[in-house]
Amino acid sequence: MEFATLSNGVRMPKVGFGVYRVPAEECQPVVQKALEVGYRHLDTAQCYFNEEQVGAAIQASPVDRSDIFLTTKVWIGCYGEGQTYASVERSLRRLKTDYLDLVLLHQAFADYYGAWRDLVRLYEEGKVRAIGTSNFLPVRLADLAAFGGMAPQVNQVETNPLCQQRVAHDYMAAVGVQHQAWAPLGAGAAGVLDSPVICGIAERLGKTTAQVALRWLLQRDIVVLAKSTHEERMRQNLDVFDFELAAEDVAAIEALDTGHGTFIDPSDPATIDFFRPLVEERCGLL
Ligand SMILES: NC(=O)c1ccc[n+]([C@@H]2O[C@H](COP(=O)([O-])OP(=O)(O)OC[C@H]3O[C@@H](n4cnc5c(N)ncnc54)[C@H](OP(=O)(O)O)[C@@H]3O)[C@@H](O)[C@H]2O)c1
Repeated sequence: MEFATLSNGVRMPKVGFGVYRVPAEECQPVVQKALEVGYRHLDTAQCYFNEEQVGAAIQASPVDRSDIFLTTKVWIGCYGEGQTYASVERSLRRLKTDYLDLVLLHQAFADYYGAWRDLVRLYEEGKVRAIGTSNFLPVRLADLAAFGGMAPQVNQVETNPLCQQRVAHDYMAAVGVQHQAWAPLGAGAAGVLDSPVICGIAERLGKTTAQVALRWLLQRDIVVLAKSTHEERMRQNLDVFDFELAAEDVAAIEALDTGHGTFIDPSDPATIDFFRPLVEERCGLL
């Protein structure tokens, strides 16, 4: 496994395993299998409602907690000074650990400023080794760095061949924020894994389409978080360090960029309308 080094020196495995949409009842065996096949970077979130099962899998696994890079994300409904701190303490209990490697603010809505102050406090107290954001636009990263007391060390955003985030990536690279890709395979929806361009490259190289998509992200210095509940796919998605995409293949994939996200657009006011009922619905559950 290769590692990315964050701005504070913390090392993060470049391929992580995500558990979004892994139902709670399947999550413990799936995460145990992921650890068994070699994953050492796990990405969950309060609003995935599977932190308990991720924690149980870590406890049941022979892999040392200190060898696992563990991330969770604070749900919007838990934002606010004091509330965020308490919600991370609950996450620690659910995950059965006394520290987290990374905690992210899940979205740049509601009282993310109060939430950020709590993450800074958790970081200063050593309960969290790194702090960051998710779905934050460059302007919001700059805002936190200037006025939030500490710059984010990571920003996790949708990134795949259809949504390449080139402007955001260049900004993050320039200011030392590690770019993490969510939905690196396009969440399995049409577009990435059935792309004739990526399929053609994969066939020529004797790799799978998923491996080529992940490799292309890694060659841009982006940490990838892929999800699969199938052992063979878990193995494939980890096995991406023994080949290199040539410049012409990189250019062919670059030409697939649509310039926008395929799931949510953090710059669109309609996204707030999408999240508001979700926040109300999940209020009190976390
Ligand atoms: N911060 C955020 O707002 C945010 C949002 C979304 C996701 N995330 C994080 O990013 C992680 C990954 O994103 P994602 O789960 O949405 O999408 P993804 O990893 O891009 O794609 C997952 C889909 O691809 C399929 N798949 C995986 N490996 C494959 C392979 N080798 N060949 C063919 N199909 C394959 C999976 O199916 P099977 O499971 O059936 O194999 C699943 O349907 C999440 O789990 C989560 O941790 C974060």
